[in-house]
Amino acid sequence: MKMPYAEPYKIKMVESFKRTTKKEREKYINENYYNLFNLKSDMVFIDLLTDSGTGAMSDVQWGEMMTGDESYAGSRSYYKLKEAIKDILGFDYFLPTHQGRAAENVLFSTLVKKGDIIPGNSHFGTTKGHIEFRGAKAVDCTIDEGFDPKLIRPFKGNVDINKLENVLRENPIEKIPFVIVTITNNTGWGQPVSLENIKQVSALCKKYGVRLIIDGARFAENCYFIKLREEKYKEKTIREIVKELFSYVDGMTMSSKKDAIVNMGGFIAMRDPELFKRASVYNIMFEGFVTYGGMNGRDMAALARGLYEGTEFDYLESRIRQVEYLGKKLKEYGVPMLEPVGGHAVFLDAKTIFPDIPQKEYPAQLLGVELYIEGGVRGVEIGTVLADRDPETGKERYPKLELLRLAVPRRVYTDNHMNFAASAAANILERRDKIKRGLKIIEEPPIMRHFTTKFKKL
Ligand code: F0G
Repeated sequence: MKMPYAEPYKIKMVESFKRTTKKEREKYINENYYNLFNLKSDMVFIDLLTDSGTGAMSDVQWGEMMTGDESYAGSRSYYKLKEAIKDILGFDYFLPTHQGRAAENVLFSTLVKKGDIIPGNSHFGTTKGHIEFRGAKAVDCTIDEGFDPKLIRPFKGNVDINKLENVLRENPIEKIPFVIVTITNNTGWGQPVSLENIKQVSALCKKYGVRLIIDGARFAENCYFIKLREEKYKEKTIREIVKELFSYVDGMTMSSKKDAIVNMGGFIAMRDPELFKRASVYNIMFEGFVTYGGMNGRDMAALARGLYEGTEFDYLESRIRQVEYLGKKLKEYGVPMLEPVGGHAVFLDAKTIFPDIPQKEYPAQLLGVELYIEGGVRGVEIGTVLADRDPETGKERYPKLELLRLAVPRRVYTDNHMNFAASAAANILERRDKIKRGLKIIEEPPIMRHFTTKFKKL
């Protein structure tokens, strides 16, 4: 008999959560204006809102929490993290920050000026926000295949080298402070970028004299895909692949809440001591002194350990397999979704699930509401609500796809929970003919409406 798969860890501590009834959930979501961000976590059964900061730390990471050094300057835990970053990622210089967007704030304060252009594959929301806030422009150079929801390709997060070269050639080079590549590409549905592609982007950046920065929130998951899907790297260890990948780049921003499996934290890492000096000024101003930058000593120690655990093949295999398992179950039940499944999440296709609900009635938000009512499962809308209004015309911006992201926290749920979530989605599919209308906005803030908009059911 071929032996089945089993996770390389056992459970030492459990956290109970409440079950709620469908009736209760109908009441909760109504009282909270059909916005899933408003729900108390106790009202949620399986929380797939995000994989960010929601992972379970290991016993060894918790041990590090006890021995962390809380000295203001020169903490032992800082040096532990410095060593881990050098050892795993290969960078000599780094600045701790409290999370990923803080790393963006510090680095972009150092490098981005009004009128600048920052090309990359699809920039994450906070990355784009920090670019646009400074009067600069983010240019998306993702390959066209990356936008095709059904096309099966191994590296749909790749940068289109021709698109990138056009941007580099057609603009004054002093207006391009760096190119940023996000691995895996979160906005591009968690799709990975190949090492070959990183090499090509790096060569192009060198040719034009532009820095290459990686948004590495999910760098380890990306390297797992490289090992599995890029022939040349199948015999390499994850750590060898990570080392090689970062050897082609000048620096990185990191949200440690993802692949470093901690609940809070981030950093900027770089090769250039001059850049380190300049960025240090902003780090001290916005985050804290350079040897803690918005983090506790104990959190830096747990993060150092998380970088090692997060780059172990066995761990990554169990992690990505679970996301794939959720995708497989949904597919079995015929629930429309994007393919291939990304590293950290499955994206349900709300337009196909509710073909008669127009975009002006927010079908992906509706799907999120229905999934919550059906099973207490919380996802996040990636559709018209997130796309927000055009700042000039005030009109809705309708994206091509209406998606519900189900992001899987690391080492938190069992496959039974995945079965449960998939079944809840299947039940919606079964009763979708009875769902005839969507939602209407009754109150929304001037910007970033995703979090606080109030809806009513039509
Ligand atoms: N870059 C990427 C690719 C991200 O996915 C995120 C966060 C950030 C930067 C910002 O990091 O949250 O630590 O400040 N993504 C979360 C998500 C919020 O749900 O996908 P942060």
